[in-house]
Amino acid sequence: MVRYLVASFPWSSDVGDDIARTLGLTHATLETKQFPDGESYVRYPIDVSTYDGLILIQRAYPDQNTRLIQVMLATHAARDLGVKHIHIVLPYLPYSRQDRRFRDGEPISLQTMLSLFSSIGASSIITVDVHKPEAFRIANTQCINIEPFELYASRLGKMNNVVLLSPDVGSLWRVRKVSEYLGASFSYLEKFRDRVTGEVTMKPKELDVAGKEVFIIDDIIATGGTIIEATKILRSLGAVKIHAIATHCLLLNMADSRMFEAGVSSITCSNTIPTRYSEINVNNLIVNVIRGLLK
Ligand code: R5P
Repeated sequence: MVRYLVASFPWSSDVGDDIARTLGLTHATLETKQFPDGESYVRYPIDVSTYDGLILIQRAYPDQNTRLIQVMLATHAARDLGVKHIHIVLPYLPYSRQDRRFRDGEPISLQTMLSLFSSIGASSIITVDVHKPEAFRIANTQCINIEPFELYASRLGKMNNVVLLSPDVGSLWRVRKVSEYLGASFSYLEKFRDRVTGEVTMKPKELDVAGKEVFIIDDIIATGGTIIEATKILRSLGAVKIHAIATHCLLLNMADSRMFEAGVSSITCSNTIPTRYSEINVNNLIVNVIRGLLK
């Protein structure tokens, strides 16, 4: 029987507590500090070498560059100290949007991250609602993507006169899945992003949203540009209320204020990145996946 330890970084300890409590495992919070030159330091407060397996949990946003280095240091230390099975939980997976070479000369950053984790001993990477699950095909380590869509559906409940909307073709599968739980109608917009400036534009489209409430569902709200552009179109088509639901809310440059100004009535996010809008708790979904791995 493999003896597992749950270790989390301080800002992720609620996830660690939930996993450890439900599965009856020991939970330790890693010590962290930053050296004066900016380098990262991590330390297990208990003897990790007495465990065969480790569940390592890191909310890797904000400060993703530092937090990813912390995970790498902790993973490699555990491996070096003899831990054989290391499952890394990154509820939000930074660098996952750069999952292909959009312009010549670019890295496939997701591949870089996954290769690094694999090379230092990670047995698996577990995340929630990765930007494109099919991008995990390139991974040489086990990658598990948790879909939170049933939670979104339960939150929405059965409502009349509602349309679910994907702000682009890439997220249409998410909206379709939520709609399968609810039986609500759904549609999508066509989005274009300037790969150099990041600016978002959308093609106007006839949608049957007049007099209806619309729920825009996406994986990430970063600058808010996507939701704002979609909201402009929906308002011009007569939608009465527009809500935004996203798994990961980075909310850069006061994206939430700008979204409300544009006419968004509510923002709902999960707790992969804690914000004031994190009303959907995905911890139990993570616990269930870990339970499956420990069998
Ligand atoms: C991109 O395809 C993603 O699914 C999101 O739509 C995007 O990351 C949102 O970014 P922003 O809020 O900056 O428009």
